[in-house]
Amino acid sequence: MYLLSLSLLLTLYTLSTALDNGLVKTPPMGWMTWERYRCITDCKNDPDNCISENLIKAMADRMVYGGWRELGYVYLSIDDCWSLKQRDSQGRLQPDPDRFPSGIKALADYVHSKGLKLGIYSDMGNYTCGGYPGTTLETIKIDADTFASWEVDMLKFDGCYSNSTEKAIGYPKMSVALNATGRPILYSCSWPAYEGGLPPQVNYTLLGNICNMWRNYGDVQDSWDSVLSIMKWYAANQDVLQPAAGPGRWNDPDMLITGDFGLSYEQSKVQLAIWAILAAPLIMSNDLRTISEDAKDLLQNRLLIHINQDSLGKQGRQVLKVGRLEVWKREMVNGQYAVAIVNTGDDGIPKPIATSLGMLNITQCPAGYKLYDVFEKEFLGYFKSNTLINLKVNPTGTVMLFIHPASVPHHGHRKYFGVM
Ligand SMILES: *[C@@H]1O[C@H](CO)[C@@H](O)[C@H](O)[C@H]1NC(C)=O
Ligand SMILES: *[C@@H]1O[C@H](CO)[C@@H](O)[C@H](O)[C@H]1NC(C)=O
Ligand SMILES: *[C@@H]1O[C@H](CO)[C@@H](O)[C@H](O)[C@H]1NC(C)=O
Ligand SMILES: *[C@@H]1O[C@H](CO)[C@@H](O)[C@H](O)[C@H]1NC(C)=O
Repeated sequence: MYLLSLSLLLTLYTLSTALDNGLVKTPPMGWMTWERYRCITDCKNDPDNCISENLIKAMADRMVYGGWRELGYVYLSIDDCWSLKQRDSQGRLQPDPDRFPSGIKALADYVHSKGLKLGIYSDMGNYTCGGYPGTTLETIKIDADTFASWEVDMLKFDGCYSNSTEKAIGYPKMSVALNATGRPILYSCSWPAYEGGLPPQVNYTLLGNICNMWRNYGDVQDSWDSVLSIMKWYAANQDVLQPAAGPGRWNDPDMLITGDFGLSYEQSKVQLAIWAILAAPLIMSNDLRTISEDAKDLLQNRLLIHINQDSLGKQGRQVLKVGRLEVWKREMVNGQYAVAIVNTGDDGIPKPIATSLGMLNITQCPAGYKLYDVFEKEFLGYFKSNTLINLKVNPTGTVMLFIHPASVPHHGHRKYFGVM
């Protein structure tokens, strides 16, 4: 009797914590077209940047030869503007044959042959945000079956051109339809972003049951202001957002814009540090063919990725904000922590900060901790609770610390920083 009810409880617990498709026990990593390539469909005038199989294949090649795949960047995702304006004679979505002459199945085969996964996009509503055919309540099943027949691995499901009632029916219905295809497909839901991102309109328990990740705030744009506004919203609502996340179900503050035009080197560090602390999907939208060595080095930082991919799957929080100084902290497995100290100020000088593990509330390990500077790729030494940690945080920049209990063995510098 006792055992029976225990197993029943366990079953209920599993059902109510994450979409049961076995995917993304750690946040997904990859690349997506939208932020950088938008709805460029004119391949005659802009052949290198139009949404097309050539663009996706070029990025697939870069993801392999540029070393991205080895680090975990495996999802390669097409956003809006890939389809024709009409469905085919059997009511199925069809790719624009000028831009995807080989079809999506062949593109998926190519992407899979590179050891990567293909993502596609649709929209719960009459049209996509870019004005292409949407997925209505009537076409959810046929669209899920079409995507599965193409062997797609991820669906971003946007929410333009539908009302709240239709969304409340359509998003769960698509989850069921994807499951019924028998193909595990990462399901990314834009639903909460259309409902203000907060309860009571948004039920995060329900979302965790039906989606693997979800957008809950506005689109990231190519600017520091945009990154700051997302950070501010996540901090303001962290009591709601933090418990919603966990293995298989992630809050998505949107794409990484490192390598684009809008962020300085220091500001890029801030976006990456906060996204790692937030256990956010690391989905780049940039040009891997021309990316600078600096941007690549930031995005390929092994210790940053180690923090983002921590198996505890616990989203971190902003724990302090004093003026233009912010401290963000994430708890990791085996008593490890990550801390990002962010200076959003722009008054020119690197800001001197003195703190300690005691002040950061990291005191559980009596033997003390080993500290690493994530972006400087440097071992800072052993620290006790009250040892002062003296830092300088650049204007609109961050110092990110990885904090490892001294008594727990680990792989050491080499794994995190490459050969040293
Ligand atoms: C479908 O859902 C069931 C029950 O939750 C789960 O066991 C199964 O793995 C899912 N299949 C796919 C393809 O997502
Ligand atoms: C979607 O199309 C239906 C049928 O034409 C229409 O009744 C409905 O108002 C449309 N919804 C939106 C949000 O545009
Ligand atoms: C939402 O759209 C559906 C279908 O177009 C329509 O039947 C329903 O009345 C709409 N609901 C609201 C609240 O506008
Ligand atoms: C949220 O969704 C869960 C799971 O479907 C449900 O049990 C719960 O009652 C919902 N909460 C509210 C406030 O509607």
